[in-house]
Amino acid sequence: MHPDVTSILISEEQLRARIKELAAQISRDYAGKHPLFVCILKGAVLFFSDLFRAMEIDCTCDFLGASSYGAGTSTSGSVELYKDVTEQIDGRDVIVVEDIYDTGLTLDFVKNHLLAKHPASLSVCVLLDKPARRLPGIDVRPEYVGFTIDPYFVVGYGLDCDQEYRHLPYIGIKK
Ligand code: IMP
Ligand code: MG
Repeated sequence: MHPDVTSILISEEQLRARIKELAAQISRDYAGKHPLFVCILKGAVLFFSDLFRAMEIDCTCDFLGASSYGAGTSTSGSVELYKDVTEQIDGRDVIVVEDIYDTGLTLDFVKNHLLAKHPASLSVCVLLDKPARRLPGIDVRPEYVGFTIDPYFVVGYGLDCDQEYRHLPYIGIKK
């Protein structure tokens, strides 16, 4: 285990099993459709790549860069879009893939940004949900949630602290 991590909250095996279930569920829900996955950079990259490769139906992908955190472990309160999608969203069945639903500012922003491009449908898939951290007025309601967790600051499997620890294969609680 990494020395900056106090304990492993979600192991590699737990991640693998749950992501397989999520991919099967999304494949069933979108049977006969051709969804476009929109991965939110950078935190969702590892989750997205495992979810996407487990999909059992034809689908495409795109990437959107948004960040709400500055340095450290608390949100800056505003969301910056630093890279927009390049695929056409109009008429597509879009599935937003995000690492974590925390205060909700990022997902609320991303959802509204993509809805303005007139997708046929839009759903949200998050690996982690931290309901205790939600800000008032935020109501994203992700259709797919990997794990609901207590309000720890977690790192690994894409999630960072000052850009570090993203490569860890598990979700760990940061010291
Ligand atoms: P929100 O906008 O507050 O919901 O935060 C979403 C973003 O904050 C995520 O995309 C993460 O990059 C980051 N974030 C929130 N909680 C954590 C955490 O526990 N560890 C690492 N990053 C986090
Ligand atoms: Mg992020």
